[in-house]
Amino acid sequence: MEWIHTVAWMKQVAAEAQRNGRLLGLVPTMGALHEGHFSLVRAAQRECSPVVVSIFVNPVQFGPSEDFHKYPRRLDADRAALETLQVDYVFAPPADGMYPAGFGTWVNVDGLSERLEGRSRPGHFRGVATVVLKLFEIVQPRFAFFGRKDAQQARIIRQMARDLDLATDIVVCPIVREADGLAMSSRNAYLSATDRRAATVLSRSLERARREIISGEGDIVRLIAALRSVIETEPGVALEYAEIVDADTLEPVMTLRKPCYIVLAARVGNTRLIDNALVEPDGESFIVSV
Ligand code: PAJ
Repeated sequence: MEWIHTVAWMKQVAAEAQRNGRLLGLVPTMGALHEGHFSLVRAAQRECSPVVVSIFVNPVQFGPSEDFHKYPRRLDADRAALETLQVDYVFAPPADGMYPAGFGTWVNVDGLSERLEGRSRPGHFRGVATVVLKLFEIVQPRFAFFGRKDAQQARIIRQMARDLDLATDIVVCPIVREADGLAMSSRNAYLSATDRRAATVLSRSLERARREIISGEGDIVRLIAALRSVIETEPGVALEYAEIVDADTLEPVMTLRKPCYIVLAARVGNTRLIDNALVEPDGESFIVSV
């Protein structure tokens, strides 16, 4: 495994891979890696060679009062895990390598970026889209792998790729969960033991909505009410939003006729977590993936 720190060196490696006609796959991350990230790496390794994992805690996607400074950084553990997975390259540039003095160009994916997470975190998706476009330019991946854990992010990246005619195909992989249902996240490291137990209410609320849909409930208001009633059993968890949105437009839906996401964000103690389920019509019934 080769550890790459500079943009120039990464570009050389990418150009070499392209000259040799290789199918390069990129897995963008902010490190503090867990099974969710590793599932993307394995998906990339099934389709691509070489595989590049980027590790970059991207300052511009954090708001001024967010957790950039305390975001977990565990480069040694990340390196060991990626060695074991036999990843070909890790691209871990310094902040001033990505944003040198005078940097001033931003990517805005209008509409999709203002909803849901964008409402709570203004500027967040501008920071995400900008860094991902830069990573694509530097690494020139044929495929890039993202998690459905961040469904809105994946949708926005796909829109950016379409709007800007990027040569990278976006692959979206399922959510990896802990045994008790909690979606894996680097931010789970912030949870106290009490918060950690309470946090399972998020996936339990999605499970409840899933069961309701499977047993024939199609009323959006009643589905959200059922989900909220589960969340309310945990006093330490404050729901920020819970919506059922069209998987394409991310606008709230009136019916479950098209693929949609049940999306939610909540504060568990001081930690903000997000989760979602994918609802896909299948003839007269539905496939609901939590
Ligand atoms: P990060 O939070 O490190 O996540 C990197 C990738 O891992 C994202 O595509 C995310 O959706 C995926 N992921 C995280 N938890 C997952 C889980 N439990 N199951 C499946 N996939 C999971 O998302 C970012 O970093 C950044 O915004 C980034 C895209 C790297 C841009 O800075």
